Amino acid sequence: MAQVRQIVLEGDPVLRRQAAEVRRFNPVLHKLLDDMKYTMYDAGGVGLAAPQVGISKRAIVVDDRENGFLELVNPLVTFRQGEEEDVEYCLSVPRCGGLVKRAAKIGLTYQDRFGEKHDLEAEDFFARVLQHEIDHLFGRLFVDIMTEEVKDEA
Ligand code: CO
Repeated sequence: MAQVRQIVLEGDPVLRRQAAEVRRFNPVLHKLLDDMKYTMYDAGGVGLAAPQVGISKRAIVVDDRENGFLELVNPLVTFRQGEEEDVEYCLSVPRCGGLVKRAAKIGLTYQDRFGEKHDLEAEDFFARVLQHEIDHLFGRLFVDIMTEEVKDEA
């Protein structure tokens, strides 16, 4: 059974660590990915990186609401094209949103939960979500690179 895990917030050192490559595609990884999926949907997010649940491993889950659910293990960006600026939010940074410049289009390689390798190309919002989550694996948060803070409209 998948469980909601606690999302760690900005200020927790695990969010600033370089996440480790996943080498074992075993039940522990599968449970982590299942829990991350459950936790992301529970929080209403479009992406979640393993460090955000306190696990410093190179794994992310995304669902940009257009391309469906995807889990990516050991994702690597292979190319970047163009530039777009848009507002981003992060489940680990509830205090604000921010304007962030990202590549408009990216290429990726990644592994699935069984270690099989895949390629992926993504554009626009999908590419933005992936770049945001991959940044988490390098200990980067959007607040580090935002050009302007955006306050919630309430
Ligand atoms: Co985030």
